[in-house]
Amino acid sequence: MVEHIRLGVNVDHVATLRNARGGIHPDPVEAARLAARAGADGVTAHLREDRRHIRDADMRLLKDVGLPLNFEMAPTDEMFGIASEILPQACCLVPEKRQELTTEGGLAVHAGMNHLKAYVARLQDQGIRVSLFIDPESREVEAARMVGADIVELHAGPYTKATGAERQRELARIQQAAALALRLGLECHAGHGLNFETVEAVSAIPNVVELNIGHFIIGEAIFQGLEPVIRQMRSLMDAGRRSIR
Ligand code: PXP
Repeated sequence: MVEHIRLGVNVDHVATLRNARGGIHPDPVEAARLAARAGADGVTAHLREDRRHIRDADMRLLKDVGLPLNFEMAPTDEMFGIASEILPQACCLVPEKRQELTTEGGLAVHAGMNHLKAYVARLQDQGIRVSLFIDPESREVEAARMVGADIVELHAGPYTKATGAERQRELARIQQAAALALRLGLECHAGHGLNFETVEAVSAIPNVVELNIGHFIIGEAIFQGLEPVIRQMRSLMDAGRRSIR
């Protein structure tokens, strides 16, 4: 087990707020610098085709904040070109639909292997580690292995939305997919919808080594400030990790 579970702070929604007024404030790059000071291990941002939040210039500046950059992107030639220029430490390939409010589900890796395989290889040729955002299903983990991904990021959304016994069932799906990823030699991350209430149990899954969290951190920062929220998230993640021993 990796003792330290990494926290990647997703700064997309700082840009959402900035863009609401068309100016330069609040700045997602400044948020990433604050995140670094508060103990984040990485910064994540999703450059969408419609540029609704993060823009190309943000991505370039985020590379120089001093934290590893996880560039979330759709598997398209346009995004491949930008990633090849910026050279982030990692790219997380996600499905993208124009009308969605946020990423709705994982990639259908098994159904689109040829398409994804080419992007995985082209990004890896640039020295970029490649992660695939997938639903916690064994056939998707296996397909991720087959297309040559380095990492799977398991979609935690259904777990975070469920309650009671259903939440436990969703957590078990993540645990099983994470165990399979380990057996297949894939690094395992998780993300989407995590908050103070749901983060500890996911952090207690031994082979999940990174969580990417955005909306809750940025929203809660309105009430508590960004650094205190990140510190609290960090300490809940550490508590989850300690509970394994
Ligand atoms: N991981 C992936 C692949 C995502 O698409 C998102 C949302 O942009 C996140 C993590 C973070 O989700 P949230 O903003 O709900 O914390």
